[in-house]
Amino acid sequence: MGAAIERTLVLIKPDALQRELVGDVVTRFERKGLKIVGMKLSHLTEEVLTEHYGHHKEKPFFPGLVAFMRETPVVAMVLEGLGAVDEVRKVVGATNPLMADAGTIRADFSMSMAGNIVHASDTLENAGIEINRFFSASEVFTYGKLTDRYHFGA
Ligand code: CMP
Repeated sequence: MGAAIERTLVLIKPDALQRELVGDVVTRFERKGLKIVGMKLSHLTEEVLTEHYGHHKEKPFFPGLVAFMRETPVVAMVLEGLGAVDEVRKVVGATNPLMADAGTIRADFSMSMAGNIVHASDTLENAGIEINRFFSASEVFTYGKLTDRYHFGA
């Protein structure tokens, strides 16, 4: 059976905004054929970040991670495509840019674990939770594109 159309969440982090890499990052996803169905700037609160990174709450880097994610607004995106959760993670690369494969966003644009350019949902279940965390229903769109059949098949 072929992959299903999925939606996933991406946050383009403050290091990418400071380094003027937003366009390059968005282009990587567009080039892959992923459809942008949600996109906005958002200045994240401590509360939402504590929820989002709750699984890291006890880690020594947690306070620095929250402070870093609040340095500037982030670009929040919802991307749609065939097997989008895994495909986006493939395009993004490993969490540690030094371990990421060449050609991925993190390997090509970064060297620092903290400044690793993007966050992407890790499972379909978490993608649903994270999309709802950062977007209201009216901010996520369903629309057809002339190129849909090239990217997604008939
Ligand atoms: P992300 O995919 O957003 O999920 C959790 C983030 O925590 C991760 O990317 C990194 O930016 C950050 N992170 C993970 N491990 C470390 C670490 N050892 N030191 C600093 N930041 C980390």
